[in-house]
Amino acid sequence: AAVHRLVIVRHGESSWNQENRFCGWFDADLSEKGVEEARRGAQAIRDANMQFDIAFTSVLKRAIQTLWTILEGTDQMWLPVVRSWRLNERHYGGLTGLNKAETAAKHGEEQVKIWRRSFDIPPPPMEKDHSYYNIISESRRYKGLKPGELPTCESLKDTIARALPFWNEHIVPEIKAGKNVIIAAHGNSLRGIVKHLENMSDEAIMELNLPTGIPIVYELDQDLKPVKPMQFLGDEETVRKAMGAVAAQGKVKK
Ligand code: 3PG
Repeated sequence: AAVHRLVIVRHGESSWNQENRFCGWFDADLSEKGVEEARRGAQAIRDANMQFDIAFTSVLKRAIQTLWTILEGTDQMWLPVVRSWRLNERHYGGLTGLNKAETAAKHGEEQVKIWRRSFDIPPPPMEKDHSYYNIISESRRYKGLKPGELPTCESLKDTIARALPFWNEHIVPEIKAGKNVIIAAHGNSLRGIVKHLENMSDEAIMELNLPTGIPIVYELDQDLKPVKPMQFLGDEETVRKAMGAVAAQGKVKK
């Protein structure tokens, strides 16, 4: 039987989603459309009468601002918020900043799908002379990381390996204590959590694309196993289109 409820939400469209660039750990802002998506997400949560006890997010402003917009729109700005780099987007390495469609034109759509969606093949690493190396790797927010924790690129497997300790040590105890939790994070850090929750195979997770700004509800049993498939707080047609649009980002532009 369902004893816990968890809400996860991918940030609204970022300015780099809008420009179709690999973003990863680059700290892009929400686009205007992204802010609007977050407001609609808030409305959906309000309509569903959902209240939370604690919120988790990454150290990237697109997720933080999405969370703020949801907390503001549901009159829950007083809630405790925990931020961790472990909920960041997957680090896109050397691809960071490149246009996804142009990368597909150059390396082929197959290769881009492997870089975006394979379970354990990482993108090429971000070298020290990469245009975004300093702004990311030298950022003060990462000063507390231990040697070896700061990635230069990550596969989904790597992302899960650094997200799960946070999930297990900080999020699971809150859920088990009966708290209503919301997590505002990123396409791939959330795909990692979904894979773990649903015990999905490495192949099945390849086909999952999470839409931006649409809250997702999980009902969990006492062992935190979902009792039914994830439910989107959005109409089916909008969700289907939004997922399709994410998948299509890696196609060559015609
Ligand atoms: C990014 O980091 O570019 C996106 O937020 C997620 O990208 P993906 O859907 O190409 O993995």
